Amino acid sequence: MSENFDVKLEKKCYVPDPACKEGARIPDYEKAYQEFLDDPDGFWDRIARELEWFQPWKQVKEWNHPYAKWFTDAKVNITHNCLDRHIFDGYRNRVAIIWRGEGGEERIVTYRQLYKEVMRFANALKDLGVMKGDRVCIYMPLVPEQIVAMLACARIGAVHSVVYGGFGANALNTRIRDAEAKIVITADIGMRRGKTIPLKGIVDEAVINAPSVERVVVLRRKEPLVELHSEMEVDFHEIMKAAEPVCAPEVMDSEDPLFTLYTSGTTGTPKGILHTCGGYMVGTYYTTKYIFDLKEHDVFWCTADPGWITGHSYIVYGPLAACATVLITETTPDYPDPGIWWKIIEDFGVTIFYTAPTAIRMFMKLGEEWPDKYDLSSIRILGSVGEPLNPEAFEWYYHVIGKDRCPLLDTWWQTETGMHMITTLVGEPMKPGFAGKAVPGVVVDVVNKAGEPVPAGTGGFLIIKEPWPSMMRTVYNNDERYRQYWETIPPYYAAGDLAVKDEDGYIMVIGRADDVIIVAGHNIGSAEIESALVSHESVAEAAAIGKPDPVKGNTIKAFVILRVGYEPSEKLMHELIYHVRMTLGPIAMPSEIEFVTSLPKTRSGKIMRRVLKAKELGMDPGDISTLED
Ligand code: WTA
Repeated sequence: MSENFDVKLEKKCYVPDPACKEGARIPDYEKAYQEFLDDPDGFWDRIARELEWFQPWKQVKEWNHPYAKWFTDAKVNITHNCLDRHIFDGYRNRVAIIWRGEGGEERIVTYRQLYKEVMRFANALKDLGVMKGDRVCIYMPLVPEQIVAMLACARIGAVHSVVYGGFGANALNTRIRDAEAKIVITADIGMRRGKTIPLKGIVDEAVINAPSVERVVVLRRKEPLVELHSEMEVDFHEIMKAAEPVCAPEVMDSEDPLFTLYTSGTTGTPKGILHTCGGYMVGTYYTTKYIFDLKEHDVFWCTADPGWITGHSYIVYGPLAACATVLITETTPDYPDPGIWWKIIEDFGVTIFYTAPTAIRMFMKLGEEWPDKYDLSSIRILGSVGEPLNPEAFEWYYHVIGKDRCPLLDTWWQTETGMHMITTLVGEPMKPGFAGKAVPGVVVDVVNKAGEPVPAGTGGFLIIKEPWPSMMRTVYNNDERYRQYWETIPPYYAAGDLAVKDEDGYIMVIGRADDVIIVAGHNIGSAEIESALVSHESVAEAAAIGKPDPVKGNTIKAFVILRVGYEPSEKLMHELIYHVRMTLGPIAMPSEIEFVTSLPKTRSGKIMRRVLKAKELGMDPGDISTLED
C-alpha cells in the first residue's frame, strides 16, 4: 500500500449518554490534553506518584534521540505495585482474578492468594537457579498460573518472554533461542473447543536445539499426570511446595528490563520488543485507570491472551497495578455455542469488556439472537483493539452489545508502544471507523514521507512525535532494528501504519504499510510464513500476502515456486499448509496456496509483495519502477 490516497470520510458521530461523563476520571479531554502539553513531565510525574517506589526519580525523562530513560535512578518493583501495595492498603480480600474454564469450572483468586502464590513461585524459580536478568520463556494456556509465572519472574527481576500457546514448535524454538531462555514454563495441555492441545509435546520439540534451556517447569492439569522425562523437567506444584513462602521484591532500577515480547516484522526473525520496569508500569497503570475509567466495582474482561501485548498490559500489569478484578477464561467464543461470552458477562457482571474486531465480526455473522439471550446490562464500557474496527462492526458492537448507551473505545496501540496511544475517551463523541485522538500524555500525527503533516482526508503515515513512558527501549539483540523505527521518518517514531485524519483531528487507522499481515488480530510476518514454506523440501521460493476477509480482517495467501521435480497438486497444497501449521502454529496457516513459476522482484531481488497483492485484488499496483520483470 502506498500512502498517497484520499479518503471519503464518513461524518457519522455518536454522543454517548452525558451521564457517562459524570464522575469520569478524565471528564474533559481537551483540558486534560492541554494540561499535558503545558507541562509534559509534570503530567507523568503526577501519575507516577500515585504508585509506590522504593526510591524516587531524579528526572522524569531523559531523551537522547532515539533512546529514552524514564524516571531515572528510581527504584521499583512492578509486583510491589500489583500486589503488596493492595495487600497493605486494605484490599487483600478483593478478587484479583476470576477464571472460567471451558467446562464451566470456576476459580477465584484474591489479591492475598495471588500474592502468596507469586512469592512461592518466585522462590521456586530462584531455587532453580533463576537470577535477576535471566530470561524465562512462558508457554502456557490461559490459567491463573500463567499470570503467577509472569509476576514471579517480575518479582525476582527475571525477564519473561511469553509465547502465545497457538504458536508451533518452530516458532517457539526461534523465540526461545533468540531470548536465550534458561527456563521454559509450560503446561501439559491447553483446552480448545473441547479438545486438548499438547503444549508439553510442542515444548519437547522446541527445546531440541535450544542449548540455553536448563529446566522445563510443567503445570500438570490432566489425570493421570503426564510423565516427566528427565531431571530437566520439574512439576509446577512440587517446586512450589518445596519453596519458601516469603519473597521480597527485587529492587529494580526503573530502566531494568521487565520483559521481552516477540512481534512479527517485515523481514527475518520476529523482534523481541523490550520493555522496562518503571515506564511500562506507569503507562499501563495510567491507561487502565484513566482511559478505561476504572472504578471501584468494575469487573474487567479483556479477551486477549497474556501471550500478546494486550494481555500483558490489560490483563496482567495495568489492571493489577490499578487493583482491578480481572476476568480470564480459557473458552473460545463459539464453544460450546456462540452465546458463551455473553453468558460469562451475565454470570460475572462484567462492566468493562475489551475485545478484538475479528471477534465482533464473527458474532455479527452469527446473529443478534445469541447476545439477546443474555442480560448484558452490567456492561459500562466497551473496548476494541488489534486492527481497524470497521464502521459496520462499530455499529453492531455499539447497538447490540452496548445498547446505545456505552462508550466504545477503539484503542490503537502496539506491542512497541506498551499502552493505548489513540482512542476516544469516555463521554467524547465517537465516530465509527475512527480510533480517535491521542490520549493525554502522547503526541501523534499523520504525515507524508518527509514528515510533514498531511491535510485532513489525505492518507499518510502514523507517527508518534515525543517519547512516552511505556515505549519499547530496544529490540532484543538487535538495536539496529530499534533505531529503524525512529529513522524511517526522522525524528519521529514511525508506527508502520497508514492513517488519515478528519477535520476534527480524529484519526482513522487504515492498516499496515509494511508486510505484516494481521489475521484475526494476530500479527504475522510474511517473512516467517515464507521461511516456513521454504523449509519444505518441495519449495524453492515463496511469498505471502494478506487478503481482505470479512471476519478475520485478513487471510493468508501464499505464492509458491516449486523445486524441479515437484508438480503442483491439491495434495501438495494441503501438505504445505499442514507444514506451516506444524512449524509456526495454526494462527499462521495460509488459507490458499497458488503455485507459480515466477515472483515479482526488485532488481535487488526483494519480493514485491505489494505487486502480488494488487494483482490478487485487481488493484493498481502503484509505482513499479523498481520491478525487475
Ligand atoms: C494494528 C496490539 C487499527 C495496527 C495492541 C498496529 C490497530 C498493530 C488497532 C499492532 C486499532 C492495533 N485500529 N489498527 N484500534 N490496534 N492495530 O503489536 O496495525 O499486536 O500497528 O499490538 O495492530 O499490533 P500488536
